[in-house]
Amino acid sequence: MNSILTSKWTKALVFLICLVPLGVLIWEAFNGGLGSNPTQFLEHATGDWTLRFVAITLAVTPLRKLLRQPQLIRFRRMLGLFAFFYGCCHLSVYLTFDQVFDLHGIYADVLKRRYITVGFTGFVLMIPLALTSTAGWIRRIGGKRWSMLHRLIYLTAVAGVIHFWWLVKSDIHLPVEYATVMAILLGWRVYEHYSKPARPARAATPARKEQTSVVPD
Ligand code: HEM
Repeated sequence: MNSILTSKWTKALVFLICLVPLGVLIWEAFNGGLGSNPTQFLEHATGDWTLRFVAITLAVTPLRKLLRQPQLIRFRRMLGLFAFFYGCCHLSVYLTFDQVFDLHGIYADVLKRRYITVGFTGFVLMIPLALTSTAGWIRRIGGKRWSMLHRLIYLTAVAGVIHFWWLVKSDIHLPVEYATVMAILLGWRVYEHYSKPARPARAATPARKEQTSVVPD
């Protein structure tokens, strides 16, 4: 198992798998598979994948600890960056097809529609995480401050769920499912934090590039 997780081929495979949702959307776009309202279809699909990748990224640390597979950490940064990537696709669909770059309309939307306000906040919070996701940034700002900064992903997860919850009109079962998954992932961290005895301070700079991530533990 360890050799599979440390193989560069596994990392390349995970990378390709993460591109599958984009590939499927491109395929559907060229084959008439986007339904009668393509903009809405793309907004929903990219929004879903953004939230899914946020959840998958947040699941790495619990899985790493529960399965005793420390090497899983190698995939965390990539998964976090894919969450940001699908967030960028989601925003691009909104800006280009939905608002057609109408800056006035976008401004009014962000201010007036609360689900847009909270979605926008969730996306903006991901920007510093993506920009500082490299080992160089951990060295530059220090491991402790970097970890604090990367806790912003928890707020993105909450904002993403609220954004979805507020935009649905009647059937809230999907937002409830996402909320449950996020509550488990964030609740696990709270439990871990309070159930562990305090650790003595240690040098926080990771020794290897793979240990960097878009999210803290
Ligand atoms: C950049 C700011 C954002 C804007 C302007 C935005 C806008 C939108 C719009 C217009 C929709 C479709 C609404 C409808 O059809 O009624 C939508 C859906 C959605 N968005 Fe966002 N969003 C943003 C950020 C985010 C973020 C950060 C996440 C996740 C972390 C997210 C997750 C979702 C989800 C899950 C859906 C619904 C998907 C479904 O119906 O299956 N959005 N968003």
